[in-house]
Amino acid sequence: MATLLGIESSCDDTAAAVLTGAPADARVLSSVVEGQSALHAAYGGVVPEIAARAHAERLDAVIARAMEEAGTGWRDLDGIAVTAGPGLIGGVLSGVMHAKGLSAATGLPLKGINHLAGHALTPRLTHGIPFPYLMLLVSGGHCQFLIAHGPDRFERLGGTIDDAPGEAFDKVARLLGLPQPGGPSVEQAATQGDATRIPLPRPLLDRPGCDLSFSGLKTAVLRARDRLVSDQGGLYRQDVADICAAFQRAVSDVLAEKARRALTLYAALSPKRPVLAVAGGVAANMALRTALEQAADRAEVIAPPLALCTDNAAMIAYAGIEQTAAGAPWDDMTLAARPRWPLDSASAPLLGSGKKGAKA
Ligand code: KG4
Ligand code: ZN
Repeated sequence: MATLLGIESSCDDTAAAVLTGAPADARVLSSVVEGQSALHAAYGGVVPEIAARAHAERLDAVIARAMEEAGTGWRDLDGIAVTAGPGLIGGVLSGVMHAKGLSAATGLPLKGINHLAGHALTPRLTHGIPFPYLMLLVSGGHCQFLIAHGPDRFERLGGTIDDAPGEAFDKVARLLGLPQPGGPSVEQAATQGDATRIPLPRPLLDRPGCDLSFSGLKTAVLRARDRLVSDQGGLYRQDVADICAAFQRAVSDVLAEKARRALTLYAALSPKRPVLAVAGGVAANMALRTALEQAADRAEVIAPPLALCTDNAAMIAYAGIEQTAAGAPWDDMTLAARPRWPLDSASAPLLGSGKKGAKA
């Protein structure tokens, strides 16, 4: 049983949360997320320097709000969990430095958390599922299949070798003149579209394993758009809908097929209660959810509620509760911010570093 303050600043959300309890019955007392999208809107992507400065400016206020909403004083806390990577290094540094300052002032111990472990452990907070479970992280910054064996033991089965799917959704929306964030706009437009009219590739399906690639798909959308413009002299509303539907179908097809492969590897562990947990902003996509449910066969597909699926600090505090309860040592003032921090150090590193920082 512990009460922890969580701090998250690895991308474009400044977040703080207070959680209390043991791993099996942890409760979120508060979870405050302050997005920065307005600051980056004019640049078509997250600008690392702007992000880092905004985190440094806003962490104080966001943490104060989280403490107030939780009704917690510094003396009620047992420790501080802070994202120490992977992510945009300036933002991670802002959070780690802030946490060190608080630790020095209050005497509270400090725990550096891997942001991906935060996402990957969230289904335990929200659904109380036992280890091992299969996890698919799909967001604007991440895309990987993991088997969660324990609070700090993850096996990566595969991941994207270039862009994350959310980045691809955002890019496709930009190419078609749809508003950001691209995922919801593309999903909305796709409801009116014919997914079979525009042929798009299914990258890496011809190769064994669970790795994925989305950058070629993005380029294929660009070509399809340009071809239509040059053939017809413009792009009509139906064209946009058809491209969106085709793109969404292609992303769902590859993720579903790779999920099937990941589930086969996971099934070899004979889990008592087979679970495929999906997290990240792209998990909100209903076409993808349906495709994954079909692929999952007898495994139960679960997704944490969106507020805990996208970047937040509750997941960081929860990872702190899980890991310290399992006997992991606290960190000290030597805690470093890490731009890259693979969850699974045994697997080969993933290539690529997207707009939102390193993939792992
Ligand atoms: O997890 P998240 O909030 O944050 C980061 O990745 O930092 O994910 C955001 C991503 C964006 O790229 C957004 O376009 C995508 O998730 N997204 C969606 C949907 N809703 C959000 N993608 C596809 N379909 C959706 N309905
Ligand atoms: Zn994230």
